[in-house]
Amino acid sequence: MADKHNQGFAALLRQPVVPVVTIEEAVKAVPLARALSDGGLPLIEVTLRTDGALAAIRAIASELAGRAVVGAGTVRSPADGERALRAGAAFLVSPGVTPSLIQASRDWPVPFMPGVATASEAMALADLGFIFQKFFPAEQSGGAAALKALAAPLHDIRFCPTGGIRPENASDYLGLANVVCVGGSWLASAQDIGASDFDAIRARAEAASALV
Ligand code: 3PG
Repeated sequence: MADKHNQGFAALLRQPVVPVVTIEEAVKAVPLARALSDGGLPLIEVTLRTDGALAAIRAIASELAGRAVVGAGTVRSPADGERALRAGAAFLVSPGVTPSLIQASRDWPVPFMPGVATASEAMALADLGFIFQKFFPAEQSGGAAALKALAAPLHDIRFCPTGGIRPENASDYLGLANVVCVGGSWLASAQDIGASDFDAIRARAEAASALV
């Protein structure tokens, strides 16, 4: 039942770093997404943590179609997922997993990535067929060393760690066989978004897209 989610992410995850973006003012969404995309990171996760998040997703999806692929993060409930889908989200990500999210994801027409922080949680999701899993909060849950240790028993699971990842430690994760990408908010800080410094955001995206 999770095949569509696995196939969806296998096709979408083509960049080493996925920007995790929290946008207060939806008017900033399009220039921000354009800067990330121009910097080589067209796949963008907008967190559902602000009043402007859904409008931001809607603007990016409609105005940058073919140039950026926008999804929703911080999906905590089926209602969150449905609102994000109506706004045009092309993928959904959650910091964790609940039975109701798993149930709802069966009907979602876009790929869904639940989150885990322990071997037991990862095994439970793998039992349901989810191969792509967010590892959150990555640094606080043992970091790259923890993921390296999980690779032996859970060799078939592919992780997208987020939480505490920065340019200085991103390569520690990206060097692991069970990591397909890392996520992070460092590419578009609240300060840069607030100051509309989209050149700085594009420069950070360029540096991140060159990570291997
Ligand atoms: C997430 O939602 O994935 C995290 O909040 C991103 O963590 P970071 O802000 O430490 O990059």
